[in-house]
Amino acid sequence: MASASNRGVIFQGAGKVTVETIDFPKLALGDRKCDHGVILKILTTNICGSDQHMVRGRTTAPKGLVLGHEITGQVIECGRDVEFICEGDVVSVPFNIACGRCRNCKEGKTGICLNVNPARPGAAYGYVDMGGWVGGQAEYVMVPYADFNLLKFPDREQAVEKITDLTLLSDIFPTGYHGCVTAGVGPGSIVYIAGAGPVGLAAAASARLLGAACVIVGDMIPERLRQARSFGCEVVDLRMDVKLSDMVAEITGSPEVDAFVDCVGFEAHGCGHDHGHEQPATVLNSAMDLTRAGGEIGIPGLYVTEDPGAQDNAAKMGSLSLRFGLGWAKSHSFHTGQCPVMRYNRALMQAILFNRVEIAKAVNVQVISLDDAPKGYADFDGGAAKKFVIDPHGLVAA
Ligand SMILES: NC(=O)c1ccc[n+]([C@@H]2O[C@H](COP(=O)([O-])OP(=O)(O)OC[C@H]3O[C@@H](n4cnc5c(N)ncnc54)[C@H](O)[C@@H]3O)[C@@H](O)[C@H]2O)c1
Ligand SMILES: [Zn+2]
Ligand SMILES: [Zn+2]
Repeated sequence: MASASNRGVIFQGAGKVTVETIDFPKLALGDRKCDHGVILKILTTNICGSDQHMVRGRTTAPKGLVLGHEITGQVIECGRDVEFICEGDVVSVPFNIACGRCRNCKEGKTGICLNVNPARPGAAYGYVDMGGWVGGQAEYVMVPYADFNLLKFPDREQAVEKITDLTLLSDIFPTGYHGCVTAGVGPGSIVYIAGAGPVGLAAAASARLLGAACVIVGDMIPERLRQARSFGCEVVDLRMDVKLSDMVAEITGSPEVDAFVDCVGFEAHGCGHDHGHEQPATVLNSAMDLTRAGGEIGIPGLYVTEDPGAQDNAAKMGSLSLRFGLGWAKSHSFHTGQCPVMRYNRALMQAILFNRVEIAKAVNVQVISLDDAPKGYADFDGGAAKKFVIDPHGLVAA
C-alpha cells in the first residue's frame, strides 16, 4: 500500500481550477460498498474538452468537484470481490463507469449503464450529473466493477514506453473512432469532421485508419487546422465567409460528403462573419446540409439538458433550433451519446501496440505535471493545438 495521501484537480467555480490535497480513495462511494473495485496509482490522466464545459461554467457542476475521467494507472489494491485483475496490472480505465450486470451493459451500451447513477443512465469519474464518482486528475483513484471495466495492457514495460498513445484509450481515441463508425466511415469514404480539438483530430486519425479516401476537418483556429494537415487531412477555415459546401466542393468536386462527424457539441460557434458568436445548433444544421441523402451523422460532440451560460431561454434547457425536416427528407441517421469505450479500446490498443496508428502525434500530446494542470486548462481553453496529459507522479517524465 502506498502512503495515504492524495492530491487532485478541483473545480473552484467558473474559470478556476486548483490542485489540492484530497482524500485517499476508499473502496466505497459514500454508503455504497465497492468491494468489486480497485485503487489505482495513476500513471497518466488527461484534460478533456468535456472538462472545459464545466470549467467554463456551462454546466451545473458543483464547486469542490474533483475533476478527471481519462485515467491510466497501476493497480495497488484490489477489493475482496475482484477476481481477475491483480495488483501490479497496468490498465486503461474507460471513462464510462459500468456495472456489467444491467440490461444496457449486457447489450454493450456501457455509456448508459442503469446501476451506477441514481439520477440518470450513465456515469463517469469526476463529472457533473454522472453519479458522484470521484475524478482521477489526481495521484490515486478508485475504479468500481474493476473486472468488468478495466483493460489490462499485456506488458508493463511496453505500456510505459507507449504511454502517450495508450493514455488516449480511456476516451478520445475510442470516442473519435466511434464518431466515425456511427457515421458509416469505411474504405473510400469522403468524411467531414467538424472541430479540430483533440476529439476531432482523433476522429480524423480514426477515419484514416478505417480507410477513408478523403478526410476534411473544419475549425476556426488556424493552429488546430495546421495540426490536422500535419497528418494528411484536408482542412477548411471556417472564419472564411464562404459556404461550407462550396469549400468542400473546392476540395472534392462535390458539395456533399458520405459521412459527417460532429466533434464540437453545444458550445459551437457560427462560421464566416459569425465566427465570434455562439450558435449551438450550427454544426447539426450543417451536418444535414452537407451529408448526402442516406448518409449517417456521428455526434460525439456533447449536448446538455441544462446550460446556465446559454444565450437564450430555449438553449438554457438544451432546446436547439434545428432544421430537422432537411435531415428527415434526406433519410439521415443520427447517432448521439457517450462513446461506449469498451466496445473499441482493446482493438485500438492493438492498433497502437502494432504501430498501425500514431494517435499521440495526431492529437499532439503534451505531458505536464499535476501542479501545471491549471495552466494546462488555461492553455487548452485558449485553443492550443495540444492534448494535455497529466503525469501526477512524474513517472512518465522519468
Ligand atoms: N461523446 C463522448 O463520449 C465524448 C467524449 C469526449 C469528448 N466529447 C465531447 O466532444 C467535443 C470535443 O471535445 P474536444 O476535447 O476536442 O474539445 P475542444 O473544445 O478542444 O474542441 C472543439 C473545437 O470545435 C471548434 N469549433 C467551434 N465551433 C465550430 C464549428 N461551428 N465548426 C467546426 N468547429 C468548431 C473549436 O474551435 C474547437 O477547436 C466536446 O463537446 C466534448 O465534450 C464527447
Ligand atoms: Zn474526455
Ligand atoms: Zn450496467
